[in-house]
Amino acid sequence: MTDVNRRSVLTLGAALGLAGAVVPKAASATTGAVSERSWTWAPSQSVVGSGSGVDPQWVWDDEIDQIIATITDSGQTAQVNAAMDGWVNNWQPVPAGLPPEISGWLNGHMQLPAWADRTKLRRAADFNRRKDTYLFMIYGVGGGIMSTVIPREARSVYHSKGGADMQDRAAKTFSFGYDLSDLNAFENTGEFIVTANRTRMVHAAVRHLLPQSPHWQASGHDEEIPISNHDILVTFHSTGTFAHKKLKEWKVPMSRADEDAFLHSWQVALHFLGVRDEYIPATWDAAHAQAAQILTPILAPTTEGKYLAEVLLGLVAQVDLGVTRGFLNEFVRYQLGNDVGDWLGLKRDYVAAATIRVGWPSYILFREGLIRIMPANFYLFDQLLRAIAMAFLNKGQSGTTTPITIPDMNRPT
Ligand code: HEM
Repeated sequence: MTDVNRRSVLTLGAALGLAGAVVPKAASATTGAVSERSWTWAPSQSVVGSGSGVDPQWVWDDEIDQIIATITDSGQTAQVNAAMDGWVNNWQPVPAGLPPEISGWLNGHMQLPAWADRTKLRRAADFNRRKDTYLFMIYGVGGGIMSTVIPREARSVYHSKGGADMQDRAAKTFSFGYDLSDLNAFENTGEFIVTANRTRMVHAAVRHLLPQSPHWQASGHDEEIPISNHDILVTFHSTGTFAHKKLKEWKVPMSRADEDAFLHSWQVALHFLGVRDEYIPATWDAAHAQAAQILTPILAPTTEGKYLAEVLLGLVAQVDLGVTRGFLNEFVRYQLGNDVGDWLGLKRDYVAAATIRVGWPSYILFREGLIRIMPANFYLFDQLLRAIAMAFLNKGQSGTTTPITIPDMNRPT
């Protein structure tokens, strides 16, 4: 690795607020290759405090992967999706009409893990409600665009079926976040456990389908089967861990109990997504240490990621609420730093950059009741928020979420 690469990993780590970024052994900062790095994160740092220590790069979701592969190859995907139509709430029984191997599997995966704490989950839901504006901006702008510079994720998303309709895909991904943030997410009246299990089945289908895509095969990807436990943890760090870091950095008031509860909802979410408990960080310190090891060093531009970022930013900018593309570009740079902004070729708008640098901290202070006078540019941030919601929450029809269905094919071109 050259010094330039080493330096760019470190500055990138600093820009993202991920302390102690670990510089990779291989020249991964420019290629996004993960394979040459060893896994040293200790299972003693996990929610269960012990484990095999096996590298999560080689761990997928064997049982459901096998079931969905068989369903896909026998052409039953449409039938399975139809049977799941209307299956939304956690209290609803697993639908009749599913092949017995799927209903059997689902029936065994609807329960909270033994270490889940309902009091913390309820607190997390309340925290999500109190901080929803910032979380929306972090997930919708920072996390969303960061996913486009995670090479494995960008290539998987681009070459899978949903890559051809990013607005629909973004709406579905938002419904995951929406259901996770809901006040009743894990209660019987909530929807998250169903949403997470549907997502887990989608991921299983992608693991089976994507290796059959000649386009994905030609993309320069570096793994035989996508969406390992390692990859899911990377995505968690680009969303949950990144959100925690940004909230701290922006000095958004939150108690220790709030922070713990917020982490807990992600811990349970990861469990439902099929991540083994031995990899799920027990504390934010452990999560940040894991992120420094597996997220920061692998960020890199790809052709697919640049395209996806352009589509996503275009979708928000086209909702004409006066939010200019320059403002949006600069909000991405504000959250992710100039390395990422430059990789994605985001045109500079120095006036917008200055407005954000001064205006966003005042916006937070005003919203939190820490200053009395409304900042001059308050409306700009509110408009951005609404534009993201209009673009991605079910194509503008907020209040409803887009059902997640199992794909039966890859992106054809
Ligand atoms: C699908 C969430 C990790 C690749 C989905 C969907 C959700 C979701 C809600 C359903 C939306 C849809 O069908 O379009 C998550 C969460 C993750 C995670 C919360 C981790 C915290 C990953 C990773 C990858 C990935 C690590 C790849 C490296 C995909 C792909 C699809 C998908 C390719 C299917 C798109 C299609 O419909 O063709 N994910 N995901 N996901 N996810 Fe993930």
